[in-house]
Amino acid sequence: MTETPELKAVLFDLDGVLVDTSELHASAWAQMARSVGATPPADIKDQVRGISRMESLKIALGEDVSRFSEAELDEMAARKNARYLEMVQDLTSDDLLPGAGELFDDLDAAGVKIVLCSASKNAKTVLEGIGISDRFAAIADGHSYERGKPHADVFWAGARMVGAEPAECIVVEDAAAGITAALDGGFVALGMGHPELLAHSHHLINDLRDVDAASLRDIHAKHAAICNRRNGNDG
Ligand code: G6P
Ligand code: MG
Repeated sequence: MTETPELKAVLFDLDGVLVDTSELHASAWAQMARSVGATPPADIKDQVRGISRMESLKIALGEDVSRFSEAELDEMAARKNARYLEMVQDLTSDDLLPGAGELFDDLDAAGVKIVLCSASKNAKTVLEGIGISDRFAAIADGHSYERGKPHADVFWAGARMVGAEPAECIVVEDAAAGITAALDGGFVALGMGHPELLAHSHHLINDLRDVDAASLRDIHAKHAAICNRRNGNDG
């Protein structure tokens, strides 16, 4: 008989889950692409959700990517990042998305670890901006993985930091690539917003006000046994 693992940790994505920086990433990429005569895709905001910096650059440039040398591509990524960093300087605690603070308090009280798992190398700067750096038991960010989402590396890194198995965690994600990564990595995958992009999630919410520690335990219990079997723990 397969045992249902206990919920030990919730792994939060950052951009689009705890703070709405997606618009800032998209606008900094679009400015950069136009500055070199490329036309960024109209849905760039959704296309770069959860995608690493250099992969996002290819999306922003489209076919024009072939016009540039590696050194030029590196310079463009650095220029976009400088612009993005200017934009995030304006973030304050008012930018923490609704429900996040209450959910953190509830998870703390329930003894469930709170972990950050972001693709971004700027995650720590953004956490400081919105004043929540001290809420996490562990932080896995753009410096913690080799392969970006849709690979599960950043989630495995975060789970390992708090001594949890994938099937003992829920991942909260707003990106299609993030949900794919979570599912492939053996995690329970909770999609937030964007039902048209996240139909493959185990469970969908509109925002963090929709859940608390008890409901996350229920969602986890419903799906974790399957994740555990997929991870080869047949009990
Ligand atoms: C997040 C965002 C992506 C961004 C990626 C890398 O996942 O959703 O849009 O490209 O992080 O961010 P960075 O700040 O390292 O360029
Ligand atoms: Mg995201």
